[in-house]
Amino acid sequence: MACATAWAWRAPSSARWRTWVAASPPSRRAPASAASPRSSRRRTVPAPWPMSTVGASAPRKSWSCCWPAWAAWAASCSSRSTSRRPSCAPTAWTCASASSPTASASRRRARNPLEDWKQRLAASSDGAPLDAFRDWARAKRPGRPVFVDCTSSEDIALAYPSLMEAGLHVVTANKKANAGQWSHYRKLRETASRHQRRFLYETNVGAALPVIDTLKNMLRTGDRVLRVEGILSGSLSFILGLTEEGVPLSQAVGTAMEKRFTEPDPRDDLHGTDVARKVLILARELGRQVELEQVTLDSLLPPDFDATGPLDDFLARLPQVDAAFQRRVETLRAEGKVLRYVGSVTEDGCFVGLVPVPLTHPLAAVKGGENALSFTSERYSPTPLVIRGYGAGAAVTAAGVLADVLRLVDGPLP
Ligand SMILES: NC(=O)c1ccc[n+]([C@@H]2O[C@H](COP(=O)([O-])OP(=O)(O)OC[C@H]3O[C@@H](n4cnc5c(N)ncnc54)[C@H](OP(=O)(O)O)[C@@H]3O)[C@@H](O)[C@H]2O)c1
Repeated sequence: MACATAWAWRAPSSARWRTWVAASPPSRRAPASAASPRSSRRRTVPAPWPMSTVGASAPRKSWSCCWPAWAAWAASCSSRSTSRRPSCAPTAWTCASASSPTASASRRRARNPLEDWKQRLAASSDGAPLDAFRDWARAKRPGRPVFVDCTSSEDIALAYPSLMEAGLHVVTANKKANAGQWSHYRKLRETASRHQRRFLYETNVGAALPVIDTLKNMLRTGDRVLRVEGILSGSLSFILGLTEEGVPLSQAVGTAMEKRFTEPDPRDDLHGTDVARKVLILARELGRQVELEQVTLDSLLPPDFDATGPLDDFLARLPQVDAAFQRRVETLRAEGKVLRYVGSVTEDGCFVGLVPVPLTHPLAAVKGGENALSFTSERYSPTPLVIRGYGAGAAVTAAGVLADVLRLVDGPLP
């Protein structure tokens, strides 16, 4: 098995792109996406659904420590890869090893090309904007080059069609492409099909939980999905779980941010925008031609709270909502209920919002970063198919991204 691998990424604390592929000027950063409050409409959870459990607990650590923000990965295999690990000796690394000062360093890299990526990243001075990936893929024509996006940048999401045209497959944790305008959603799929490139995004909903794959399999085997519903935000399930233990909302948000459970801007979680994107992605998987604005959304923050402005100012103001939120939690507890942030796709539309659920309801037990989704279909009815497990955090999400990359490297091409 002969493999060629090229990596490129931007250091989290650096303005420069690092690469072993090409030397180019640094890329321009996209502006941070603005979280926007939306109109609200409250609703109640439909009839309780039984829960069986899939998924397991996972250790958590900072994602940025184990995974570059985005990377182009090209694996050109003369035969189908039999290894489940991306550890095949790569051409780019082989070249680097040949000029390496010591044979032991060469041997170390041959064993595990990712072993010293941090040092090599720090030592690299090349830049690699998106053009560098496109030029490289066009020039080298490797067998299965993969562009991996672990940012939340809309600009990068918009570039996927051009990357596919250049020959790259795309694996993404970034929801912006699938939750963008319907026209871009269609263009992506048409480009992928025209250029026979694969577009994999399992981590868009439920991190590493097998949500998209399960839904696709139900549909491609002829099932008709009637409704999908559940807790789709690991960060909100973590935050709401802490508030039930008496932790003020603002502190719970801070802890979720420290653990990197939230979106880069936690307002995306608190307004429900991130859950709305996931609900939209699920609805589109079901063939619905919907836009984000059509998802009915009820923010976790009170409508009169000013959530605009720079992130630091917003976080400084957040304690203002603590007392009212805690009162609401305690009033519900006295009634034997808890708050859960629920998303659903039904035949009537897409809904996202805070819902009081009785302690006896299966969703009441879903907290601490877990997700739980039920799929009611012609085949799975009246008992729905249920997926439950950790749906946020660096380790599980990185594992989901890697699983998509391995699926692409090992699997058949379109
Ligand atoms: N964390 C989770 O549990 C989870 C689960 C499922 C999906 N996701 C998705 O995964 C993506 C990343 O999440 P995260 O929690 O890792 O966020 P994060 O900690 O903020 O990391 C994002 C990284 O992307 C870099 N970045 C942002 N915009 C960029 C741009 N235009 N060009 C180059 N680099 C850019 C950031 O660099 P700087 O630090 O320099 O800004 C940062 O290193 C998001 O799309 C998120 O929705 C996350």
